[in-house]
Amino acid sequence: MQPTFLTFLDPDTVASDAAARFIALAEGAIAERGRFVVALAGGSTPERLYKLLATRTLDWEKITVFFSDDRFVAPTSRYSNAGLALRLLPLCPKTTFPVPAETTLDAAECAAQYEQELLAALGPEPRFDLVLLGMGDDGHTASLFPGKAALHAVGWVTHSTPGVLPPPVDRVTFTFALINAARNVLFLVTGAGKKEKVAQWRAGAGSITSLPVRGVAPTDGTCTVLLDEAAS
Ligand code: 6PG
Repeated sequence: MQPTFLTFLDPDTVASDAAARFIALAEGAIAERGRFVVALAGGSTPERLYKLLATRTLDWEKITVFFSDDRFVAPTSRYSNAGLALRLLPLCPKTTFPVPAETTLDAAECAAQYEQELLAALGPEPRFDLVLLGMGDDGHTASLFPGKAALHAVGWVTHSTPGVLPPPVDRVTFTFALINAARNVLFLVTGAGKKEKVAQWRAGAGSITSLPVRGVAPTDGTCTVLLDEAAS
């Protein structure tokens, strides 16, 4: 099924809508299941959202946080997605799981260990309440880049070579299987550089290999894409 595409004036209004959705889903999941299981996204777009969330009251001890992808770098690196979130959000260390880059030898081993951590925290059929994602100008999402083997990986977490994005380090990423098992997937996509790929996505054009965002289609969940006018 195609995602629901919603257009907002600018990146700030995208972030406020995303924050309202995040909070509503968190409150609902905590009330129903005692915790909210979320995967945070990388890239620069979620920064505004994280800054907004940091000003709200949320019970972070009841929020289990994974990362839908990250570079194979320590959380202290300026390129680390976990590092960005840890700097901006009052995450609870007991319930936050950065990719274990510091304790593993390479991205493949890191992906295998992250998958084990995920299964230990979420059980054998991991299901996120919310997976946050972005889209790159080339149509990639998480670290699922056009034409790369990771697009066809089986299991829940895999590793990937960097695609077009700097820095040239390997990455660890959720697979489509894990993303598509989620209850809710929310994309934040802003900026004119995304316009062409957004148009193809909306038209249902392009294959997963050329336009990886097309691989996101939750089996039993929602998929919403928040766009700003420049990307729309
Ligand atoms: C990353 C993410 C990547 C990101 C998109 C969009 O770590 O960079 O893997 O998928 O979400 O490239 O990035 P922007 O938000 O910076 O446009």
